[in-house]
Amino acid sequence: MKERILQPINRPLQGTIEVPGDKSISHRSIMFGSIAQGTTTVDHFLDSEDCMRTINIFRAMGVTIEQQGSSITIHGKGSQSLTEPVEPLYFGNSGTTARLMLGILAGLPMFTTLYGDISLTKRPMNRVVDPLRLMGASIAGRSQGNYLPLAVDGRRLKSIYYHLPVKSAQVKSAVLLAGLFAEGITTVTEISPTRNHTESMLRAFGVELNKNGSDISIHGKQALTATDIYVPGDISSAAFFLVAAAIVPDSQLKLLHVGLNETRTGIMDVLLAMGADLRIEEEQVKGGERIGNIIIRYQELTATTIEGEMVPRLIDEIPIIALLATQAEGTTVIKDAAELRVKETDRIRAVTETLTKLGASVEETEDGLIIHGKTQLHGNRVQSYHDHRMAMMASIASLVATSEIAIDDISPIATSYPRFYDDLNQIVQ
Ligand code: S3P
Repeated sequence: MKERILQPINRPLQGTIEVPGDKSISHRSIMFGSIAQGTTTVDHFLDSEDCMRTINIFRAMGVTIEQQGSSITIHGKGSQSLTEPVEPLYFGNSGTTARLMLGILAGLPMFTTLYGDISLTKRPMNRVVDPLRLMGASIAGRSQGNYLPLAVDGRRLKSIYYHLPVKSAQVKSAVLLAGLFAEGITTVTEISPTRNHTESMLRAFGVELNKNGSDISIHGKQALTATDIYVPGDISSAAFFLVAAAIVPDSQLKLLHVGLNETRTGIMDVLLAMGADLRIEEEQVKGGERIGNIIIRYQELTATTIEGEMVPRLIDEIPIIALLATQAEGTTVIKDAAELRVKETDRIRAVTETLTKLGASVEETEDGLIIHGKTQLHGNRVQSYHDHRMAMMASIASLVATSEIAIDDISPIATSYPRFYDDLNQIVQ
């Protein structure tokens, strides 16, 4: 437990931030580089606890991975050269590592056991285990395999046609990765498009994937060829500073090299719909992903509604968007977001409790939030709920609160943004 007390600041935010690498893309770069043939380099990798879990898991399976800060070199020898790990694999807080690795491990000829921290141990795995079992996987664990620890007895898999029952890129990715090791063609159908980093990065590693409407298909038994990956800045990390500048009067911030993949840019659409003054400069495509610098200036905001296909495009940003909504005139409604209940914590409950303690007017619904703005926030003691994004949201709230906010444990922030307070301090000077 690492408590942090944040004092109110009564001045505008100014400056430029180089946002750390994208977490989703960083995880995938290690996974795909480790099962590919040849040497993969990764530039601007996110050096955080969650991403180190992925590196350590492949090291435990015999892959040589060199790291110098945000530069990674992976000496891949193909999936068949991975060795059976002697010890259980530890996934810490990382749901993405656990769910995607289940897809990889299910089809490899080895026995593995997977465990995680207190938060990950409560997160449902049946969303991945169920389709993998349909493919012939052998997975055992608590509650019929719904919760970690899990044991995977890897074996030959068969392909499936799978309608994804949840809007989840992790589930889509796990099934596609298992499909890579299966006989035949595996197809997944999405209800709503979710982040597509698995599909675009697999293509960069030479894998053929076909997209037909909402169907994505992959032929089994394709080999991956090493490549060089550039990881864009994480828009989910940038979101905290986008909101900070949008709510602290007279602020102006520039965020460099942020990933602008349209499956991830819902936060920008919401800011614009609320009236924010935001623009993109130096837009380019780098390493197959669109990136650019985002410049945002303070502007008075009005409420909006967030629902439907927009939700997967900003699912991780909802805690900070809820804070944003407390500073906008009118009632913001967030619905179709029941997935928030199975994140690092139940984020619908956690956001409601936290913002209410800070003086906001928030109603919890089954699948979202109703936020009545604009409210003056005040200080209080709040929790992080073992959730990095809750701790960062409460930290940004302190910028507009009238008195200090004490957060019980900020250590989860290291899972996705270890330099968060360095960047925050730099812009409040
Ligand atoms: C992720 C997918 C999302 C997101 C998570 C990262 C990924 O989860 O919330 O932070 O990298 O695929 P779901 O797939 O469960 O929606």
